[in-house]
Amino acid sequence: METKFILFSGKGGVGKTSMASTTAVHYGDQGKKTLIVTTDPAANLSDVFEQEIGHKITKINGVENLHAMEINPDKATEEYKERSLAPMRELFDEDLIKVAEEQLSGPCTEEMAAFDKFIDFMDTDEYEVVIFDTAPTGHTIRLLELPVDWSKHIEASSKGSGQTCMGPVALIQDSKKKYDDAINKLRDFSRTDFVFVMQPEQTSLEETIRSSEDLEDIGIKTTRVIVNGLIPNEEAINPFFKKKIDRQQMYVAKAKESFPHISIQTMELFDSELKGVEMFRKSGSKLFKGSGQDE
Ligand SMILES: Nc1ncnc2c1ncn2[C@@H]1O[C@H](COP(=O)(O)OP(=O)(O)OP(=O)(O)O)[C@@H](O)[C@H]1O
Ligand SMILES: [Mg+2]
Repeated sequence: METKFILFSGKGGVGKTSMASTTAVHYGDQGKKTLIVTTDPAANLSDVFEQEIGHKITKINGVENLHAMEINPDKATEEYKERSLAPMRELFDEDLIKVAEEQLSGPCTEEMAAFDKFIDFMDTDEYEVVIFDTAPTGHTIRLLELPVDWSKHIEASSKGSGQTCMGPVALIQDSKKKYDDAINKLRDFSRTDFVFVMQPEQTSLEETIRSSEDLEDIGIKTTRVIVNGLIPNEEAINPFFKKKIDRQQMYVAKAKESFPHISIQTMELFDSELKGVEMFRKSGSKLFKGSGQDE
């Protein structure tokens, strides 16, 4: 069995968490062993699933095969530092460890730690489906770009130059293979579905096109776009909403033109927030209806 990875990306507030959670409940309900992970430092899976989750793999109540985890950047950084320092502790004296600790306390380490944790979930074959609810686009692309520079970093470090926020060279080279594997999986669209969520608006469309190009620059193809928040047609009973609906449909059409080779899905606007397993089943029945994605 090969794990399927599904990443949800997009601008702030467009519905990434809602669509990722909808997808997670859908696969979990199908009996597929599913994990939803958020790499967003402002994680809110606990809110939407209405139960405590946090920095550990937690079973979601009411869905047979669904687990969730919110990566906590501080805890990820601690774990990463400890993992980097552990092999040194046995070999070197306290002063040297202190120096190493200092080198491991910049923002670069934090980024590496978040990425490292993310990669951990790409390295496992414990789940049939792993879904990533990511932070708003810029942050995610930076995260994914990291290992591209990272290879260069490793080369520099092993030659004795460059920054050492990644820990000792031996460990770096250990990780390199893991990272390269993960990036290859991300680039393989039979393994990884990269989904952009957008609103049916000009700025959202522009941002989606731009981000998709940025992603393509690092060799990752967009495989799906979800246009979220369409006012249902039956609401077109007054001129105001009719006009609004027409504009929204125009942006769906534009999205199709801009991404001619991939599937554009739509998701209607509900009159309540997307929250709770029952609500995700409702949105799931719309998202997966007749899409051929429900196998
Ligand atoms: N189709 C929809 N119908 C009704 N409400 C929706 C819909 N999609 C999203 N929402 C609501 O809009 C808000 C933002 O959605 P969500 O949290 O999924 O976006 P996000 O892209 O994950 O945001 P962030 O960038 O802050 O993580 C939430 O309150 C959510 O319940
Ligand atoms: Mg979110």
